[in-house]
Parts: sequence; structure tokens; C-alpha cells
Amino acid sequence: MPAIEAIVIKNLTKKFGDLAAVDHVSFSVKQGEIFGLLGPNGAGKTTLIRLLSTLTRPTEGTATVAGYDISKEDSKVREHIGLVSEKMIMYDRLTAKENLKLFGKLYDIPNDVLEKRIYKLLKLVRMLKWKDAQIGTFSTGMKQRINVARGLLNMPGILFLDEPTLGLDPQSTSEIREFIKRVNIENKTTIILTTHMMIEADMLCDRIGIIDKGKIVALDTSENLKKILAGTDTKSIELEISNLTTNLLSLLRGLDCVKSIIQNNPTHIKIRAIGEEAFDSIIDTVRKNDGKIKSINDLEPTLEDVFLHITGHEVREQVSNRVKGQAPRHGFRTKSRIR
Ligand SMILES: Nc1ncnc2c1ncn2[C@@H]1O[C@H](COP(=O)(O)OP(=O)(O)OP(=O)(O)O)[C@@H](O)[C@H]1O
Ligand SMILES: [Mg+2]
Repeated sequence: MPAIEAIVIKNLTKKFGDLAAVDHVSFSVKQGEIFGLLGPNGAGKTTLIRLLSTLTRPTEGTATVAGYDISKEDSKVREHIGLVSEKMIMYDRLTAKENLKLFGKLYDIPNDVLEKRIYKLLKLVRMLKWKDAQIGTFSTGMKQRINVARGLLNMPGILFLDEPTLGLDPQSTSEIREFIKRVNIENKTTIILTTHMMIEADMLCDRIGIIDKGKIVALDTSENLKKILAGTDTKSIELEISNLTTNLLSLLRGLDCVKSIIQNNPTHIKIRAIGEEAFDSIIDTVRKNDGKIKSINDLEPTLEDVFLHITGHEVREQVSNRVKGQAPRHGFRTKSRIR
């Protein structure tokens, strides 16, 4: 009988000196699932993917991928997986097709099979038109599509995608998300995807593991994760203030209970806050400063709220604009949570 679990992870740990980049992680991924690893900068997402794809060895713990042990059967594991990561090297002077051919040869795929597969994959990622163009002339989004095609060259049962839409324009982002969904449905590929984008995890993943400081701090479907917030004091409200000023905004930002404010337009703000008194403090501050409130709405919980509730800090979407590799671990910690 085929294994129901595509991946089984037990106590997996990777230390760099004193730092546990992945810290006693245990969970399983089901066959055919799109599993999201959601976490901020430095959370340990890439390290966990590198462990599972046998690019680095664990300090402690074990995992099986496609039924094979990552430490003892690494070459078997590699036969069954594809990896799309941020650090993929491609040859700028070669064409899209030549690049894929070169990487396909590493898998010992017979020439005629490889030709057909490359054609099919280029079609899947809508790059057939550019098959004979040099990679060096491509935009980041086009290169990432080729990267996805490359990850699928060996028709893997399990595909690892490390931040597949990082730094892409909105159109490429939505196209890559669409390919991910399609590969999962059409080829029944199990997909493990890392992201710091709540919306990406929410729209793509069957289940989401929230990772913070090397530990899985919550794991469930997006719907169930949001239920964690029921009856808690983490809330998001939308306020319409007809005479909103920058002074009032900075006073609100200064409140202890306020974790973030997003201004949608000159009069509308979305406030994420924690604490039983949060609502009253916010309204008092607006009124005491002569703010005219036109409407107040409680917002449906988002994964962002869940993340904040569990970890006490936020994963900010603008992380996507960062220069890779330069941000310190936990660099996006905001105010510490009131516990
Ligand atoms: N080879 C290494 N040597 C030393 N420390 C490392 C190494 N690789 C990762 N780290 C550290 O381990 C922690 C986890 O890094 P990792 O790259 O896994 O995080 P991440 O969640 O992928 O972050 P990002 O969002 O920046 O991609 C970080 O503090 C990082 O600096
Ligand atoms: Mg990473």
C-alpha cells in the first residue's frame, strides 16, 4: 500500500553554532497536499527545506521524504523530489530550452523523453514562445517560470518551493500561484511551499505550519487557524475618520495595544490591536483629539492576526521588498506582546 504521508518529520533540528535554525520540528505532510510553511525572515523556512531536500544534514532528529530517510537514503530522496529555490543558478547565455536540457541530463532522462517533457513544461509555464531566447534577456518573473519548469523536470512526486513568488511583479505572482495549483491538481504533486506572505498561504495551501524562531508554533488549515482567535482579545477594526490627521495617526500608533495601522485612503484606517481595553483606548484617543468617527467595523480575522496572536509579532508583507540575506533574524519584531 502506498504511504499516505509524503513527508514525516520527527524532532528535526539544525544548529549553526548556538543557533537552532530548525528546532525540534515534528509534523507530517500528506500525499497530494499543498503544505505551507509560513514565517518571517530568519524563521528557519529555507533551512527546513534544505534539510528535507538533503542539501544539508540534521544535527538531530529524522525525516522521511517519499518514504526514504533523508540521512541514510539521500540519493533516493533526491530522485523523488523537485526543488525551486531562490538560489538557482541558470546560464544566462543559454536559451530557456538549452538550460532545461542541461539540467534534465543530470537526471539521466533519455533524450526523446526529455525533449517532450521540456516542451510540455514550457507550455505549462507559458514560456514556449521564448524557448529559444537567452535566459539573460528574461525578466525576474520569466526566469522564475523557467525555474518552476526546472523543478518539475524529473516529474517529482514532491515539489519544494522556497518563496516562489518573492520579488515578482503582481502578474507573475498570480501566474506562478496558478501553475502551483495546476501542478498539484493535474500531476497530484505534493507541494511544500515556504512564504512570508499570509495571502499566499491562505489562497494556496491545504494546511499551514506557522514557523517562528525554528519552531512550528501552530499547524492547521487556514480556517481552523483563524478559529484560534475566537474569544481572544486580538482584533482588527476598520475606522473611518472624516478629519484624520497625521498627528492622530501617530498618537494611535503610540498606543501600547496597537500593533499595526494600515491606511487605505485619507479617511480609512485598519488597526490591529491586542488587549481587552484596546477598543476603548482607540476610540477614546480619537475622540479626545477631536477625530470625527463616521464608521467602525470589526474585521474578519486574517492569518496575519493569527500570526500576531501566536508569536506576538508581525510578518510584514513589505518584507518581500527586502534585499535577500541582509536582514537579521527576527528583524521584523515589532512591539512585544502583552502577555
Ligand atoms: N549556513 C548558515 N550558517 C549560519 N547561520 C545560518 C546558515 N543558514 C541559515 N542560518 C541562520 O539560521 C536562521 C534561519 O535561516 P533561514 O534562511 O532558514 O530562514 P528563512 O525563514 O528562510 O528566512 P528568509 O525569510 O530570510 O528566507 C537565520 O538566523 C540564519 O541567519
Ligand atoms: Mg528563506
